[in-house]
Amino acid sequence: MKKPKIYITRNIPDHIIEPFKNTFDITMWKEANIPVPKEVLYEEAKKVDGLLCLLTEKINQEFLQHASHLKIIANMAVGYDNIDVKAAKQKGIVVTNTPDVLTETTADLTFALLMATARRLIEATNYIYEDKWGDWSPFMLAGSDIHNKTIGIVGMGRIGQAVARRAKGFNMKILYHNRTKNEHAEQELQAAYVSFEKLLEQSDFVVSLIPLTEQTNNLFDKKAFEKMKETAIFVNASRGGVVDEEALYNALKNKIIHAAGLDVFKHEPISSNHPLATLQNVVLLPHIGSASVATRERMLTLCLENIQAVFKGDYPKTPVE
Ligand code: DGY
Repeated sequence: MKKPKIYITRNIPDHIIEPFKNTFDITMWKEANIPVPKEVLYEEAKKVDGLLCLLTEKINQEFLQHASHLKIIANMAVGYDNIDVKAAKQKGIVVTNTPDVLTETTADLTFALLMATARRLIEATNYIYEDKWGDWSPFMLAGSDIHNKTIGIVGMGRIGQAVARRAKGFNMKILYHNRTKNEHAEQELQAAYVSFEKLLEQSDFVVSLIPLTEQTNNLFDKKAFEKMKETAIFVNASRGGVVDEEALYNALKNKIIHAAGLDVFKHEPISSNHPLATLQNVVLLPHIGSASVATRERMLTLCLENIQAVFKGDYPKTPVE
């Protein structure tokens, strides 16, 4: 029997694809760090039965026109706002994502970003590199405490709960806002459900972990930042699209809020001339939430397992419903 053809949109290490070589006929984009050009992707889409793609690929109607016999799109991310899932499903294509395997790693990074922003770690490191460290003084690089403060988590899904577990270890008061109440988080973590407005008003740290949808697009806008405390620190480890970046820039510049830690941006990648990169009270990271070697390997393997399941006629492990 002919092996199903699959296309992987980056060059991934051989030891990850090795166990699947007997099952699939695998073609990969030649680069590990540069996205596949649209024209190449569209050409490949015509030939293959399965696609393993990243959040850098826009899987929209235009792409789908080229996907004449594609059966599965396995997205190497838990977020799938890069995919027109409805249009794919209409064509009978299964879409999968990578939840669970990245939860703890992403929560680690989110909490690290929160801490780095509160305690001004990047500024402090640069202080040494820039030879600014003169005499020690009482308020040199003094930041904000984390312990005993209130964290407001917007989006109490798996990652939200994992961040809340970390916050509990710092004796923080945990508020959350979510589409639906999360009984587990309330019982296990003493997290209190509040309206979005109350969360903004009462939190010392406002942490965004919500997916990007039509409803959450620009959720954190001028009005939202104006509701936050002047001392508030905003952390975004979900998607840049949930933030009105101009409003955030103005809020930070005009000291409406104290600081921000951002792992994601509306249009990635950003460079040092991005307005947010010109502010001192911001810590910026290049979308590395799930970037530990072990987790990235697990994400890729899960994608390949999902593809395998579909070709075996089984239900994939992690379908996007
Ligand atoms: C995700 O999984 O959605 C992250 O943003 C990429 O790891």
